[in-house]
Amino acid sequence: MFDSSKVFLEKSKNITPDVAVILGSGLTNFFDESNITFAISYEHLPDFPQPTVTGHAGKLVLGKIGTKNTVCMYGRSHIYEGHEPQHLAKPIRVLKDIGCKLLIVTNAAGSLDQNMPAGSLMAISDHINWSGFNPLIGSNADDYGPRFNDMSDGYNKEYRLKLLEVAKKINQKLYEGIYCMYSGPNFETPAEIQALKVIGGNAVGMSTVPEVLVANHCGIPVVAISVITNLAAGMNKTKLSHKETLENAALAESNILNLIKNFINDINLDDTSGNN
Ligand code: HPA
Repeated sequence: MFDSSKVFLEKSKNITPDVAVILGSGLTNFFDESNITFAISYEHLPDFPQPTVTGHAGKLVLGKIGTKNTVCMYGRSHIYEGHEPQHLAKPIRVLKDIGCKLLIVTNAAGSLDQNMPAGSLMAISDHINWSGFNPLIGSNADDYGPRFNDMSDGYNKEYRLKLLEVAKKINQKLYEGIYCMYSGPNFETPAEIQALKVIGGNAVGMSTVPEVLVANHCGIPVVAISVITNLAAGMNKTKLSHKETLENAALAESNILNLIKNFINDINLDDTSGNN
């Protein structure tokens, strides 16, 4: 067990969260203040790399969504910040240690499809790891999972169907598509975007894939949602910027958080198990 897991469980008095949520760029308001049990800064969690990017707060918060104990990572670290890919595995293994049975990952992404504009939400059905990095490279963490793990249900289908059902119920349009990870930190070139379209991508971003690989490795099922903040490079005349990402993520924030909270309320965590 990681030291951070011990710190968390000591503080939570052994409350073990059912669900974990990772908030992507620009998403900041997950819990209502009154539903928070405690918050702990990543500074006090030795296995959590410190995020250095604006829009990523860097704290782990335990609270309630309906009856479910939910832990939320307010902010994440990225490979482009210079963190070793293996270090990005640690927070996810901490989530495993403290008992999470489902991981909900969010991110901001560029759209590869003119018909999926800024402000859209997209349930990720699969990914293409175009980053050149993989946090599972290195000696295998045998206590957490196998050397060669299966990724054929990397974005758990049963939970995703449930998410689509919940979206329909609350009248939230939800696209479904393939997320391509690019390392960043620059935005992609128009030629790279053309290439990603040809190989079957629907959205592109600089995160999520490391966490999803590690969660699958240790048997935590994953649901992931992109907030589309822009059309990808070369698809319209405006220049891309992190400012635009944060502004458009903020505009879609209430939609994605409302969807996630309804989903957490509705799911039965015994519906399905991890794929390992
Ligand atoms: N590319 C990569 N990452 C992103 C983008 C993009 O267009 N938009 C938001 N995050």
